[in-house]
Amino acid sequence: MPSKYILVTGGTGFIGSHTSIALAAAGYIPLLLDNFSNSDARVLQRLNNIIGTTPKLVEGDVRDTPLLAKLFGDYDITGVMHFAGLKAVGDSVADPLSYYDVNVCGTVNLARAMKASGVKTLIFSSSATVYGEPESSPIPEHAPFAPANPYGQSKAMSELILADLHKSDPTWRIARLRYFNPVGAHESGLIGELPQGKPNNLMPFVSQVAVGIRERLTVHGNDYPTPDGTGVRDYVHVMDLAEGHVAALRHVTDNPGLLTLNLGTGVGASVLDVVNTFERVSGRPVARDMGPRRPGDVPAYWADPSQALATLGWKAKRGLDEMCADSWRWQALNPDAYDRRTRPRTTSTAV
Ligand code: WQD
Repeated sequence: MPSKYILVTGGTGFIGSHTSIALAAAGYIPLLLDNFSNSDARVLQRLNNIIGTTPKLVEGDVRDTPLLAKLFGDYDITGVMHFAGLKAVGDSVADPLSYYDVNVCGTVNLARAMKASGVKTLIFSSSATVYGEPESSPIPEHAPFAPANPYGQSKAMSELILADLHKSDPTWRIARLRYFNPVGAHESGLIGELPQGKPNNLMPFVSQVAVGIRERLTVHGNDYPTPDGTGVRDYVHVMDLAEGHVAALRHVTDNPGLLTLNLGTGVGASVLDVVNTFERVSGRPVARDMGPRRPGDVPAYWADPSQALATLGWKAKRGLDEMCADSWRWQALNPDAYDRRTRPRTTSTAV
């Protein structure tokens, strides 16, 4: 009976921690690897409250070759989900070498460790940023690569590397999953997005305004060629994303090959759609000002998710109301994130 250990790199991060819940629910054993560069180990206790057991965690970096060799030697790992990476678009422009080192060299190092151990099942966390500014939306998987920043470039390079790896040995089972805009939180409110410092992304900024941590939201541009002039994106609930990863793992386990899929809702929502929905579901005002466009932003893009439905039977189930309601519950219960001074107002024994 093959083991059910799935190595989850970046496992205490936003998407890695939520995916660990979906893995456990599907009968797998998540084995988390994280260097805590953008996460907090206290998520483990929250995961215990949700899953019922505390996932095994190894502190470390995917670029640490001896550590990876030890991990694959110590645990009977049946597959890997690779989330560990840097993901701030603006930071990547200022510090490209770190993005290529962590995201590209990290992926190469992980794949080499897998190859050496005979583990050839890999789910790779890619991004819609590989498309750059698309010619049109919805965007299909065969749309050309046109990354507009080193972050998107690092994901595109990693995808090409994995394609060459599969070409060299077709027994590899690889899924490259391109996320659009992951938002939301687990319905318990015990875990969620935990941006370090001032949030770059819209949803955490909106929730911090709603809870009173920040004064006002600046809407980056309201003169775009969109219905209300503000930027349009394909927001997808992080738990839909997590379930999509498990569906992809199941598929490639039975079907060696190279799978490339968009994970999005196929529905575009504007900045004001998000802000107004958030106000309605939270009952809290979100003060906003109209500001200038943000350099590097594109007016509008959303996914064509039909391939994920056809191949995996996966379709996002949670709409914008639920994304905002779950984001709000996480924020309201944890205004200071995992800081022990703030106990969630729930009956659970959460920390
Ligand atoms: C969404 C919309 C902004 C903040 C990023 C990265 C990448 C990817 C998804 C993983 C845009 C507007 C935002 C604010 C605003 N993740 N906005 N005021 O840029 O679409 O994509 O996240 O691959 O990390 O590409 O997401 O949330 O930053 O912006 O008006 O304070 O919200 O202009 O229209 P983005 P975002």
